[in-house]
Amino acid sequence: MSEKVSFGSKISLIAATVGSAVGLGNVWRFPNEVQENGGAAFLVVYIGCILLLGIPVMLAEFSLGRGTGLDTVGAFKRLTPSKPWWGIGVISLLASYMITCFYMVVAAWTMHYLWGSIDGSLYAGVGEGITASDMKDVFATQFSDFVGSAWSPMLWIVIVLAVNMFILLKGVKSGIERMSNALMPLLFVILLVLCGVALSLPNADEGVEFFLRPDFSKLNAGVFISALGQAFFSLSLGMGILITYSSYFPKKDNLTTTAVSVSFCDFLVALLMGFIIFPAVRSFGIGGDGSELQSAALVFVTLPQVFAQMPLTQVWSALFFLLLVIAALTSTVSISEVSILFFQEKMRFSRKKATLLVILPLLIFSPLCSLSQGVLSDMTLFGKNLFDFLDSTTTNYMLPIAALLTCIYVGWVVPKGFFRNEVTNNGKVAVRFFPIVRVLVRYLAPIMILSVFAYQLMS
Ligand code: PFF
Repeated sequence: MSEKVSFGSKISLIAATVGSAVGLGNVWRFPNEVQENGGAAFLVVYIGCILLLGIPVMLAEFSLGRGTGLDTVGAFKRLTPSKPWWGIGVISLLASYMITCFYMVVAAWTMHYLWGSIDGSLYAGVGEGITASDMKDVFATQFSDFVGSAWSPMLWIVIVLAVNMFILLKGVKSGIERMSNALMPLLFVILLVLCGVALSLPNADEGVEFFLRPDFSKLNAGVFISALGQAFFSLSLGMGILITYSSYFPKKDNLTTTAVSVSFCDFLVALLMGFIIFPAVRSFGIGGDGSELQSAALVFVTLPQVFAQMPLTQVWSALFFLLLVIAALTSTVSISEVSILFFQEKMRFSRKKATLLVILPLLIFSPLCSLSQGVLSDMTLFGKNLFDFLDSTTTNYMLPIAALLTCIYVGWVVPKGFFRNEVTNNGKVAVRFFPIVRVLVRYLAPIMILSVFAYQLMS
């Protein structure tokens, strides 16, 4: 047996896993979902989804990783060598690499905007006396010109890949663990500072009221499905990340406290984001038609509008985009690690060789994703450009399928006692909690994921 590396402490292990979970899902997906699905009513359903489905499914993935100490394909192979269940791992592995291709591009955008905030070029076109609608046009055009241009994003893509490679080459302890220990506290500090600033803006209370006022009349099956999708995406379920990272958890770690802490921190980041976005947007009376909170537009168009109207524009803008860079970087590192560990375990490649094999092809794939937003937008797959195709295929199909099959696998197929022994550390911890988890993984999670598919097919 090779000597398996593991994270040095409980804090590091939580910091790394929270780093992988906290990403653009918290920053730009969450506020949009809240706005569309009844404010705090969505929040209540979302919390329910995390508790009843997110945490149990996370525990199922943790048990596979920690129990086998292997990568996302190897874990299934080790437990059921003569059956093709490893196919589940292959789905996660492929999905994770497909996500890596376009997420690197988004990470590159965040770096470009951070730089634009620092040198002021982002705000060069919005002088005194500009009207609100002109300002929106300036930022919207700036964003679409940048994203659609052939060359401007390339430099940033190369920088993002280089930073990822640098961290990943250093390995789990000196690379991933050190990065997470340094960046995650910084991320929380920035979040708190921005929260304080947003809440002290004029009329901030209107935004808070919108965020916290539940509109239960909006609750329907669609809201539930959005909440479930958001919970799974935000907790990085089905991507192989949790199996991969938990293979670095020490044997004595209490998986339940880890899963609860990670889910709590991830939720806290989303919640704090809500306390930043809603007051900030309402305070400047931006929008009302819903478009201002939609995904990329929220961070690259709406928020620059907000910062431009605040004193110390560049300071708040730079802090916000630094937050985004951290969120994106800790996620890209974790998702690249899925393939790296696979190559290390399966092919017995050295860390260096595996890292190069994963990162270098991205020098082609990520620019292709970027170009598919501009000059290559006519090249479509199933009617979508490459970027959108990868995004929708993974989030709508591959991740939920992998999560569903993982629940069935851990709930029904793994050797008897395996799941229990992992979650309870052989009967020492969380013993009374485990039967509930098992029921949720065996029945509730598969039924819920299947219902989502059925609903989507019907509507
Ligand atoms: N949980 C992550 C998020 O909320 O953004 C999901 C993720 C996406 C992780 C892409 C890693 C990644 F590269």
